[in-house]
Amino acid sequence: MKIVAALAVLRMTATGSLLTGLECRKCCTTLAADRRVGTCPTCGHTLFATYDTERARELRVWERFPERDRTLWRYRELLPVQREERIVTLGEGGTDAIRLADVPELPGVEVWLKDDGQMPTGSFKARGMAVAVSRAVELGATSLYVPSAGNAGLALAAYGARAECPVRIYLPEETPPEIPRICRIYGAEVVSVPGTIREAGEAARARERNSGGFDMSTLREPYRVEGKKTMGYEIVDRFQDSRMPDAIVYPTGGGTGLVGMYKAFQELQRMGRLEQFPRLISVQMDGCAPVVRALHAGEPSVRPWEDPHTVAPGLLVPAPFASERILEAIRETRGSGATVPDRELPDAMERLGHRHGVSASPEGAAGYAALPRLFAAGAIRSGERVLVYNTGSGALWDVGAVRRQVGR
Ligand SMILES: Cc1ncc(COP(=O)(O)O)c(C=O)c1O
Ligand SMILES: [Zn+2]
Repeated sequence: MKIVAALAVLRMTATGSLLTGLECRKCCTTLAADRRVGTCPTCGHTLFATYDTERARELRVWERFPERDRTLWRYRELLPVQREERIVTLGEGGTDAIRLADVPELPGVEVWLKDDGQMPTGSFKARGMAVAVSRAVELGATSLYVPSAGNAGLALAAYGARAECPVRIYLPEETPPEIPRICRIYGAEVVSVPGTIREAGEAARARERNSGGFDMSTLREPYRVEGKKTMGYEIVDRFQDSRMPDAIVYPTGGGTGLVGMYKAFQELQRMGRLEQFPRLISVQMDGCAPVVRALHAGEPSVRPWEDPHTVAPGLLVPAPFASERILEAIRETRGSGATVPDRELPDAMERLGHRHGVSASPEGAAGYAALPRLFAAGAIRSGERVLVYNTGSGALWDVGAVRRQVGR
């Protein structure tokens, strides 16, 4: 039986992945990448995938990217999946960046928007889950679970369905009812938990302790960040021949997006493809801003936010897991942070729609809403090119309802 399985693998097509292993940046433990692991076995922190970027440089892999489909799998040498047949895809990645009409409060600033609202399942979470589900199943996972504010759950449910792998989604009780409904369309089991994503995570891990299910929580397994780093690859791909953005404005919850883009820039630098990194600017909500507070206070790590509240569910993360990595990504790129009040989100959602033709979720609109403050604070300057990341679609949202909610 084993021989038959080995022969079947041999018949598969190699992706050309240059994955070399996993490393913990906290305690410097390194591991082979052929085992399914979650966090660092020595210290419990996040494990990151490493690649032979020297070889990538010799092979000039980036010259192959433009010849391939415009999905995130065009970067397959720098992704972990080993066999093409193991790739679980809905065509994710390849979202364009568009120039927005000038924003009056930001004179002389060129504003661009990258729209991941157009991704399968409606958010950038599809990137992480496409890669992480592909890799987990390649390494033998037979069931997957995740605590989620909504979008990660939708993405895991869809990719789990395509991988024929059972999925359980743990959602905070106050998650809008559309989310569990759509998760069930994909065949996922949904568990509702009182509290925030933090409590959903605790409940999930307690309930799953002996289930054999694999934890797909953000930064608690090594490969979602690999999918999300393709945001950084795509930004470089899109702008390198003209002019790279000076800054990227990104709504921050669990922080995987920022950590992923920073990792992409580091890899591209090692391959000789990027010199100056764009500044990574984190946007959080007034009612839950642990990362921005730590930045402004110059603290080495992030303290949990007390009494977290915001209408943007993806940003309701009071204690992000890999907070030191998030702060590193912002500080090492000379980035910064800002917060916005909930009451500015409905206007920002409406302006993105009415003025720019962009459908944005509250999280995505938060980045756009923060622009005038960032300009006033000198974090964005006249003459610069700035990219705002819209992380999710507004399709599941009723702006009127958000307005009533923030007016309370
Ligand atoms: C639409 C949207 N934007 C942003 C975020 C936060 O992303 P990150 O975990 O990368 O900080 C989330 C997370 O749930 C989200 O759903
Ligand atoms: Zn470690």
